[in-house]
Amino acid sequence: MISAQTHDACLQERRLISPFPVSLSGEYGKVFSNSYSWGEIRNTVKYIYADTLLGSPVMPHTAFTFSRTEDAVRFADALMGASPFSFRSGLFLAGPRRTGKSTFLRQDLMPELQARGVLTIYTDLWADRGADPADLIAETLRKTMAKLANPLQKAASTVGAVKLAGVEITLADVGQTGGLTLADALIRIGQAAGKPVALVVDEAQHALSTPRGIDAMFALKAARDAMNQGEVSQVPALMLVFTGSHRDKLVGLLRNNRQPFFGASVTDMPLLGRGYVSAYVEWLNAWLASTNQIDSDEAYAAFELLGHRPERLEEALRDIALGPGGAAALGDTVLGKAHALRDRVWADYDNDFGELNKTQKAVLEEMVAQGTGFQPFVVATLNAFARRLGRKVTKSTIQSALAELKEKGLIWQSGRGQYALEDQGMIPWLKARGLRP
Ligand SMILES: Nc1ncnc2c1ncn2[C@@H]1O[C@H](COP(=O)(O)OP(=O)(O)OP(=O)(O)O)[C@@H](O)[C@H]1O
Ligand SMILES: [Mg+2]
Repeated sequence: MISAQTHDACLQERRLISPFPVSLSGEYGKVFSNSYSWGEIRNTVKYIYADTLLGSPVMPHTAFTFSRTEDAVRFADALMGASPFSFRSGLFLAGPRRTGKSTFLRQDLMPELQARGVLTIYTDLWADRGADPADLIAETLRKTMAKLANPLQKAASTVGAVKLAGVEITLADVGQTGGLTLADALIRIGQAAGKPVALVVDEAQHALSTPRGIDAMFALKAARDAMNQGEVSQVPALMLVFTGSHRDKLVGLLRNNRQPFFGASVTDMPLLGRGYVSAYVEWLNAWLASTNQIDSDEAYAAFELLGHRPERLEEALRDIALGPGGAAALGDTVLGKAHALRDRVWADYDNDFGELNKTQKAVLEEMVAQGTGFQPFVVATLNAFARRLGRKVTKSTIQSALAELKEKGLIWQSGRGQYALEDQGMIPWLKARGLRP
């Protein structure tokens, strides 16, 4: 028998009921009804709780995922040269935070490339923020080599040396001074695999944060040129895919001829749109009572407002479906909830901005107005600052404002001197607030 107290604790714990990620199902079926009363929930939860107590499995449902096959086919065509718009020099995909970049790479683009006979290699430069990006890339290549040499091998760290394409390679030395260079490692991988290779680097802009990271990017470029321009015979092609959640930082890899991928351009990652929202709402509605269905148009309006972020939409819908208003309030408040969520984020920006002095504010505003080409010290920009502030400013005043903004974590400066807003979500906020020209 479960006591009322345990019961309540359990209710707390299991508050997030299907169809959200922690949704549960077991012997007693799916746990979710949009037309519940609290009593009904308690009953359902009691059963589920009893079920776990008895030790029988309660399986979490898999969360909803929308396939983006069309986008994957389009990008794969371009990467493989089967399209008039080729990305043979590299595909640079930029998209805001939490909009589904990594999911797209792993669940759509990479499987599509694999189906076309391409060996795909994935590395995430944010996987370990403390590690040098160059080491993360080297480690990924080491793992790939170990696997190619022995497909049953699980961990690269236990493998000392491998023989690939007839050459003995000491894995620990890959990417280290005196060892196999990253470029040569990729060439060997291509030779051993005997098929084209696609290297997918997630959060690639992070490579710019260390000198070795930048060197690693030059090495990838060298490998690309060697493999695609026939400098080494018998080597399949190399495709490079880079993503970044910070467009301006990603641009840092290709902005001018001192950068490794000069000549390539950044493509905006397509945002999830109507197709996603319709499919998600249809999936969600299947869980809800027929009298309480979510309206797809309203959900889409909320999704747009929340910056096309699946998690935020989910949060808005979940809070409403499980909140005190219950399901009856669902239709009325999706958009209201979305507004509230966005306002919470914007209130933080408001606070941050409110604490700045006039010069710092003018610098931020001008930076957003100028966009990626922001040049703080040219005469035209100094004049623009003067207009905003109603007085003349010197370069050193601007220099210290930039340093202070950097110190506060509001702006970022690349190793090569370009500036960008650290949190790009601040841009629509600044614009909505009325950016003076
Ligand atoms: N196609 C999709 N269908 C359903 N949910 C998705 C889809 N793509 C992304 N999501 C959800 O959106 C959230 C963010 O996805 P993901 O991590 O892929 O985004 P990201 O842009 O790589 O984020 P970050 O900026 O943190 O790297 C995750 O909760 C994910 O499950
Ligand atoms: Mg990601």
